[in-house]
Amino acid sequence: MTKPKVLISRELYDRYDKIGQILGSIADVVFTDRQKYEEQLADAVGMIGGRITEDVLQMAPNLKIVARYGVGYDDCDVEAMTRHQVYLSHTPGVLSDAVADMAIALLLAVDRQLVNCDAYVRSGWADRAPGRPSFGVDLRGKTIGIIGLGRIGFEMAKRCVKGFDMKLIYYDLYPSKRAEEELRAERKSLEEVMKESDFISIHLALTAQTRGLIGEKQLKMMKKTAYIINTSRGPVINQADLTKVLSEGAIAGAGIDVFEKEPISLDAPLLKLKNVVLAPHQASVTNEAREGMAVCDAENIAAVLKGELPPPNAVPEQRGMIFKK
Ligand code: DGY
Repeated sequence: MTKPKVLISRELYDRYDKIGQILGSIADVVFTDRQKYEEQLADAVGMIGGRITEDVLQMAPNLKIVARYGVGYDDCDVEAMTRHQVYLSHTPGVLSDAVADMAIALLLAVDRQLVNCDAYVRSGWADRAPGRPSFGVDLRGKTIGIIGLGRIGFEMAKRCVKGFDMKLIYYDLYPSKRAEEELRAERKSLEEVMKESDFISIHLALTAQTRGLIGEKQLKMMKKTAYIINTSRGPVINQADLTKVLSEGAIAGAGIDVFEKEPISLDAPLLKLKNVVLAPHQASVTNEAREGMAVCDAENIAAVLKGELPPPNAVPEQRGMIFKK
């Protein structure tokens, strides 16, 4: 009997032999280049991937599950997937440490001007030369404002409170009893968080409600001395507005891992600014997080192939659904 076909990118399969251990005996694992997925879709039953649209689903009539390699799934049309009875799983939890670590790295890098420091040393360390990095600020006692206190936001909050002795305020649709008890967190309105924080870190999923949530109006509520960090999704902040307030000096700086369009265009004015530290959507790129994501995806695909429905990490919109396909 032929085994069901599961599509996996070569890069993942080669790197994480655990995927083979989990799926090897129950699936015909076909590893392919991401760009070549389409040619392989007709008889695929499972795949690790993203960017799932109605068109992709039309090409994949046998598909039962797509395991998103990541926690965010804003590039997948969940409504269409549900209509086609295709599960979408994602990887919550396994990358929270990695992303929170990166948010801390960006926060410190922009506050202490690490990129400028590095360039300054490499260009000769000449006393009083232009470009000499100036003062940063201590973190102890400063206020961290977390926007979106889910798993990743909580890890970031914990690092700020327990590691740096910062005061924590947060904006979230739901109160977090755990953060209030363990981290003395105070829940506030978005406006209050924007106004009162010395550092703001964004940890929201990209949805119709969060797209463009932070624009010029919100950014201009910030203290002139405050910094904003985004490791969630680029479109949560209006990039043109962020560039404007940064170049006007209306806020002190930004640490940005995610962009409205990725890769960001080389002509983007944001790239010209000195008070911003940039990373290429790198927050979850650690050995531990990436292996955890690969294993989580393989386990969700295995569950569907074995008829253990719904898969353990089905996205919230599909939780509890049993597809008969
Ligand atoms: C995520 O987990 O969503 C990361 O951005 C990687 O895709």
